Amino acid sequence: MKILLLGSGARENAIARSISQSKQLTKLFISPGNPGTSIYGKNVDLGSEFPSIKTFVIENDIQMVVVGNEQPLVDGLWNYFKDEETLRHVLVVGPSREGARLEGSKDFAKDFMINNNIPTARYKTFFKETLSEGKDFLRSLSPPYVLKADGLAAGKGVVIPETLEEAFAELEDMLEGEKFGSASAKVVIEEFLTGIECSVFVLTDGVNYKILPVAKDYKRIGEGDTGLNTGGMGSISPVPFADEDFMTKVEERIVKPTITGLQKAGIEYQGFVFIGLMNVGGEPYVIEYNVRMGDPETETVFPRIKSDIVEAFVSLGSRSLDKVTLEIDPRFATCVMMVAGGYPEAYDKGNRIEGLENTSDCLIFHAGTKVNDSGDLVTNGGRVLAVTCFSWSMEDALQMCYSNVEKISFQGSYYRRDIGKDLM
Ligand code: AMP
Ligand code: GLY
Repeated sequence: MKILLLGSGARENAIARSISQSKQLTKLFISPGNPGTSIYGKNVDLGSEFPSIKTFVIENDIQMVVVGNEQPLVDGLWNYFKDEETLRHVLVVGPSREGARLEGSKDFAKDFMINNNIPTARYKTFFKETLSEGKDFLRSLSPPYVLKADGLAAGKGVVIPETLEEAFAELEDMLEGEKFGSASAKVVIEEFLTGIECSVFVLTDGVNYKILPVAKDYKRIGEGDTGLNTGGMGSISPVPFADEDFMTKVEERIVKPTITGLQKAGIEYQGFVFIGLMNVGGEPYVIEYNVRMGDPETETVFPRIKSDIVEAFVSLGSRSLDKVTLEIDPRFATCVMMVAGGYPEAYDKGNRIEGLENTSDCLIFHAGTKVNDSGDLVTNGGRVLAVTCFSWSMEDALQMCYSNVEKISFQGSYYRRDIGKDLM
């Protein structure tokens, strides 16, 4: 089977590695990919226009398209393939445009949760015309305040002001000042939940589902979860507090009603549901849905899946995921992300990366790297490399990550030294 994977990050590098291990694979293409994915398949740059993806899929007899990030799904790639006679036979791993609204519209997602009795923070949605009602609602809540732009805002659409005055100013900025463009034409305001977060991943064919290994990511740039939000500084899987009791609650109260809710709404969904959860005193609440795998969670979750992932993907097309057994590596996987100095604000690109050949007992997934004209591997993004290690204890796995990270160097490199500390 020939497969096309869309995306360019360390998440896609980890997915490409798992796909490359499948017995069903004859050829893997990654668009656009990165130097890390080129180890597992052939990088091609198709851009984001659907017709150019179509031409490539037809000319290369691709039978499966795995979508790494949300944008093509929110833009309706699944529907495009279903609507085109010549593409209908191709399995797109990812939901329909309607399903992708779970991530593409916070208002839709909240409404879906309420309709399906899924525990989530109390909320209301406001428009420019209802700004003053929005302020009244803010007054009824206690600080801090959670304001979410309804649409996709490159991961920056959630603001959490500490004071009522700041919350008013943010709300005005989002609704009237179009802070996030059309994405903030609607704003969800919700209750702040206090607890510890984790990421639950579900693979579904629309009827059956498999819960994949649970992970925790570290979003802030600074140690002790301080400073600006990033695309993710590291991850751990499994999560010690997500024990059997907690996961039973997650499955009964959240996963099952999510899948049946999609069915009731007549939504086609063959792909990943990423449920961002808050553990509030042992009770799970949904913070958000995403319609793809997480980054950097995938860098610990995927390497733990020992079964043939392509077989599981194939079963999505025939709605037979219930016939698939996923074998999971019981060990801890930990991931430490090396980033460029200055990230998530301004940072340098083009710095030479050295020492990869000295690493051992680890997986290295490329995020922002490229091979320059002289053939050197150089930095090419804020997040540069993800280093993943396995061990029976989280502490050991982390120690292995850090000893490998220390062997890799590039000018200005930075990483958090406290990944997993909060779980020990
Ligand atoms: P999101 O983009 O929806 O993942 O939100 C970004 C981050 O904001 C989440 O990972 C949480 O850390 C935080 N957050 C979102 N909603 C809430 C909430 N209701 N209570 C507390 N923190 C939240
Ligand atoms: N790690 C969070 C995300 O991928 O959105």
